[in-house]
Amino acid sequence: MTDAASNALPAAEGHPGHLAPDTVVVSAGRPERVHDAAVNPPVVLSSTFVGRGEVEHGDRAYGRYSNPSWDPFEETLAELEGSRLPGLVFASGLAAVSAALSLLPPGGVLVMPQHSYQGSLAVAGQLADRGALTLRTVEIADTEAVKAQLAGADMLWLETPTNPMLEIAELKALTEAAHAAGALVVADNTFSTPLGQRPLESGVDVVVHSVTKYLAGHSDVILGAVVTPDEALRRRLVEHRSLHGAVAGPFETWLALRGVRTLALRIERSQATAALLAGRLLAHPGVEAVRYPGLVQDPGHERARAQMDGFGSIIAILVKGGAEAAETVVEALRLWVPATSLGGVESLIERRRRHVNEPESVPENLLRLSVGIENPEDLWADLAQALEKAQA
Ligand SMILES: Cc1ncc(COP(=O)(O)O)c(C=O)c1O
Repeated sequence: MTDAASNALPAAEGHPGHLAPDTVVVSAGRPERVHDAAVNPPVVLSSTFVGRGEVEHGDRAYGRYSNPSWDPFEETLAELEGSRLPGLVFASGLAAVSAALSLLPPGGVLVMPQHSYQGSLAVAGQLADRGALTLRTVEIADTEAVKAQLAGADMLWLETPTNPMLEIAELKALTEAAHAAGALVVADNTFSTPLGQRPLESGVDVVVHSVTKYLAGHSDVILGAVVTPDEALRRRLVEHRSLHGAVAGPFETWLALRGVRTLALRIERSQATAALLAGRLLAHPGVEAVRYPGLVQDPGHERARAQMDGFGSIIAILVKGGAEAAETVVEALRLWVPATSLGGVESLIERRRRHVNEPESVPENLLRLSVGIENPEDLWADLAQALEKAQA
């Protein structure tokens, strides 16, 4: 197994011996520096690998067990999340979610935020319907209420901020409480990315990503990942991936690593624009409410400030005039793209309740905005004209 920290510079006078995350995104997962070597890792298109003798899950051997194209991405993600073991790439974020859920014992108790990503809720709901687990949904921002649900739990699922309500969970306190109750803790770190928050540092056992979003960053890849520093858990996840077969394509993984190279720059830009837009939206007469953890008025602000390095680039707004007015805003936009998903270079917007599986507690007039890297004033001008049309 490769040492995920292999990209660290040796400690030298005046140098801390490890690199800042905005350097790691650029420098990690590169081929060895030997004469004539390529600067970027290759895409290896092979379904099988030469070998003799005993084979275990995770050995190179066969393309469902492993692929050299996965290694640079898996090492880079581990380094960013602060894991001494490489991450594991999956065919999609939801495949990564399913793999993490497979760590539950049969019939185990899962505590999950009521506003988790609707796909994660749907998978957990399906498993609960057939008796594979017992699901307890909670208001994740209410630490005491979550703690009360942890008795007898086997797994606490965290999503912070939640999708799409942007609630902030108290990472460290909840992780400690879950461990005291004997439960594993899994955190979906898709919204925040490891540049905004590193759950493993708060004691979380397993981190899950929809790589499709910020990590890949260009709305052209579906991919997922799991990271854990626990060897026994990682072995089970490797076995799950090898047997259930939701494996990543070599080219998709290569594209994701290419996307990661600009992660810090993209986030710096989109986050600054999100803060600007959130403030203006808060003051707009066509907007009933704004959720953005960076706003001092936001209920999650203090908690987010304490545990995050950045407030992210997703904003939720409630449009005055209900679902119809919210749809009018989406229709009237010319630059913002009306589409689901998030974390790409282009700004996306959608009314979340258009998804039939979205929980009913998500308001009908909620629009989720994924702020991209376009010019901030162009984005604002487009939003302002669309909000005006909806109020006319
Ligand atoms: C927070 C979160 N987790 C997981 C997923 C699932 O990822 P994917 O669409 O890559 O399967 C999504 C997708 O929107 C998401 O927003």
